[in-house]
Amino acid sequence: MSETTRRPTSETDVLVVRGGTPLQGTIRVRGAKNLVSKAMVASLLGDGVSRLYDVPEIRDVEVVRGLLELHGVRVSDGAEPGELVLDPANVESAHVDEINVHAGSSRIPILFCGPLLHRLGHAFIPDLGGCHIGPRPIDFHMHALRQFGAVVDKTPGGLHLTAPDGLRGTKLELPYPSVGATEQVLLTAVRAEGVTELRNAAVEPEIIDLICVLQKMGAIINVHTSRVIEIEGVPRLAGYAHRPIPDRIEAASWGAAALATGGQVEVVGARQADMTTFLNVFRSVGGAFEITDVAPPRDGHPGHEGGIRFWHPGGELRAVALETGVHPGFMTDWQQPLVVALTQARGLSIVHETVYEQRLGYTSALNTMGATIQTYRNCLGGTPCRFGRRNFHHSAVIAGPSKLYATDLVIPDLRAGFSHLIAALAAEGTSRVYGVDLINRGYEDFEAKLAALGAATERP
Ligand code: EPU
Repeated sequence: MSETTRRPTSETDVLVVRGGTPLQGTIRVRGAKNLVSKAMVASLLGDGVSRLYDVPEIRDVEVVRGLLELHGVRVSDGAEPGELVLDPANVESAHVDEINVHAGSSRIPILFCGPLLHRLGHAFIPDLGGCHIGPRPIDFHMHALRQFGAVVDKTPGGLHLTAPDGLRGTKLELPYPSVGATEQVLLTAVRAEGVTELRNAAVEPEIIDLICVLQKMGAIINVHTSRVIEIEGVPRLAGYAHRPIPDRIEAASWGAAALATGGQVEVVGARQADMTTFLNVFRSVGGAFEITDVAPPRDGHPGHEGGIRFWHPGGELRAVALETGVHPGFMTDWQQPLVVALTQARGLSIVHETVYEQRLGYTSALNTMGATIQTYRNCLGGTPCRFGRRNFHHSAVIAGPSKLYATDLVIPDLRAGFSHLIAALAAEGTSRVYGVDLINRGYEDFEAKLAALGAATERP
């Protein structure tokens, strides 16, 4: 059995999916997973209470909440559904054994370094988790922290950090515009002494939103052109109240699901500005969408939240060539759901994954279902990337259209898992999708949403 078809031991963590029914209906997305978790960490830096709205109930939020609580932050639910109130008045050291309960559960703990060093003078970071989509090193993070003056002791159990002389602003240039390393620098520099200049920074919308959170707290951050961010450290920060940007990965995933199943899904809360690159590709493939802008209540009209309606307009889908990349490029997390739709497009589609070196492994499961996808080590169809001429199958050619047939699937990681789910929904017959609980890490209430869209799924 291949990696993707081997069954995990838990027979309860399974979703039975009867495919072939177009998804039809309306769902809503809340705050972006990849902002919300970081904004929660930022609350550690403030002297006062922070309020974060529209927080989705997903596993990553639970992990960060648990870690914050271990460090003395009082986290409670606010009056509004999805509102979190974070009170850092009594930040304190946590016991290594208790922190280690969260080992391997998420990558967010690495972002606790700067805030804990500022608050406590020391930090312990457990082994990181997150999806297995490449080696995912933390060398940029470590280099940056050392430049700020942190002393890092790597032990087999985790990272011990201290800052014997405090943290001081510095000049840094990232070898690659890493999202996490940029966030690490922001969360450390805002309260470091002096000015920090970060070159080759990531500028994803989630990062700009984190900058908005930090600015609300009192930080001074300038985003210059050409990926340069300059941060003037301040001695104190206050709490914040923030409504995060919507989850553009989840929104695109449902859009791709609508296209792959020949259906129609309205994603309330989705925002065009953060998704223009996805929408261009969606249109090139032959998908249709309509954008509704937010309308505030006025003159007796109740107003509406706005969103994006995605649908398959009928006829054949068209093959495309695309390359994933840092913002404003096509997000690596949009790739897997869209590839399922590309199996239904006529011709040869090319996908060049340039962010993670091992993010195409999931395609072998799609081939088991009837897709024709070949992966290559070469940089196909675009500019050469840092993975070219190395032993990474990071380009794919998808020949379509291919009829998909049900099979038993094992979810390998979050985004690939959602793409497996889409494939099962698009396929003829009944699939059993194992390890489906992993999807709860990043997709709130996805089973209820599937039901609302008319999908025929059940827990055995
Ligand atoms: N990299 C290094 N060294 C480092 C850090 C990164 O070599 O110290 C490399 C990585 O190995 C990767 C590239 O830089 O090849 C980009 O990694 P990045 O640091 O940008 O990713 P991340 O911060 O770990 C976040 C999201 C990912 C998303 C990427 C890219 C969170 C929690 N995760 O990861 O989201 O794919 O940025 O946009 O924000 C997901 O939501 O499923 C997910 C994987």
